[in-house]
Amino acid sequence: MNKQPIISIQGLSKTYDGGFQALRDVDLEIRKGEIFALLGPNGAGKTTLINIVCGIVNPTEGRVTVDGHDIITGYRATRSMIGLVPQELPTEAFETVWNTVSFSRGLFGKPANPGHIESVLKSLSLWDKKDNKMMTLSGGMKRRVLIAKALSHEPRILFLDEPTAGVDVELRQDMWNLVRGLRDSGVTIILTTHYIEEAEQMAERVGVINQGSLILVQEKQELMDRLGNKQLRLHLHEPLESIPEALSGFDLEFVPESCELIYTYHSQRERTGVTMLLLALGEERITFHDVDTKQSSLEEIFVNLVTWEK
Ligand SMILES: Nc1ncnc2c1ncn2[C@@H]1O[C@H](COP(=O)(O)OP(=O)(O)O)[C@@H](O)[C@H]1O
Ligand SMILES: [Mg+2]
Repeated sequence: MNKQPIISIQGLSKTYDGGFQALRDVDLEIRKGEIFALLGPNGAGKTTLINIVCGIVNPTEGRVTVDGHDIITGYRATRSMIGLVPQELPTEAFETVWNTVSFSRGLFGKPANPGHIESVLKSLSLWDKKDNKMMTLSGGMKRRVLIAKALSHEPRILFLDEPTAGVDVELRQDMWNLVRGLRDSGVTIILTTHYIEEAEQMAERVGVINQGSLILVQEKQELMDRLGNKQLRLHLHEPLESIPEALSGFDLEFVPESCELIYTYHSQRERTGVTMLLLALGEERITFHDVDTKQSSLEEIFVNLVTWEK
């Protein structure tokens, strides 16, 4: 993949009027053509960060460039490269879907291109709704229109701010497929989410933001490998009343409901302790009829990180 940055953020801070500091000295580079997930709890500063790059919110300190252009001095150039799917739903109640999306393209000074608008509406299953007024659409359909609007001017960078918050499963799948298709066509995608599952499924790299600070940025797979625990689950023949003294040196838990003995360990360590555990179990005459392993999800990693920061 091309590792050249398309967005470069340096020393970015934001203090809102009233004194609340929403971003603290954020440095981040987004690579051309990647899907990047910005992950963080509500209030972490995700929308603030996106809105600054899109020129909707002014930074207090720091510098952002998009494809080499400064977002403040080169605003027109940078804004026309970017599509933004905002967090909140649109308000143009009396406009039709077709007009809403076509108008959006015009705002960026692009000449009309009905063929492009048609293909965007079709890719979002909105074509048969093109003459409907916005107020007649369901929440899910409105969200599709937001995406269509963001794609109306053929942006090279697409920001999706919590695109699937409160969205049904079907639309979520459609959206993910669309995003992958856009990425394959060369569009750089930045999505924010507090659904870890979404980052896990979609992103190549993940940034974790908490209380305005970007606390880490990493390849998703590396993050999962580095911080991930593994669990070895042994399905025992006989239930245990308690963990025997001889096994107290292992991180073990017994689940009576499933008669499982669960051993948690770090898969990246050279000595995982699995061999020693199995030997010790043999000596204690604890037998099992099945075994499986489970790797911790990005969700568990994320919860650990954010709790650890506080
Ligand atoms: N216009 C504003 N004025 C003052 N505080 C704001 C404003 N917008 C957002 N904030 C505050 O900044 C923090 C970060 O908000 P936001 O960027 O929306 O977080 P996120 O998108 O991660 O949920 C929150 O505590 C929020 O209340
Ligand atoms: Mg937000």
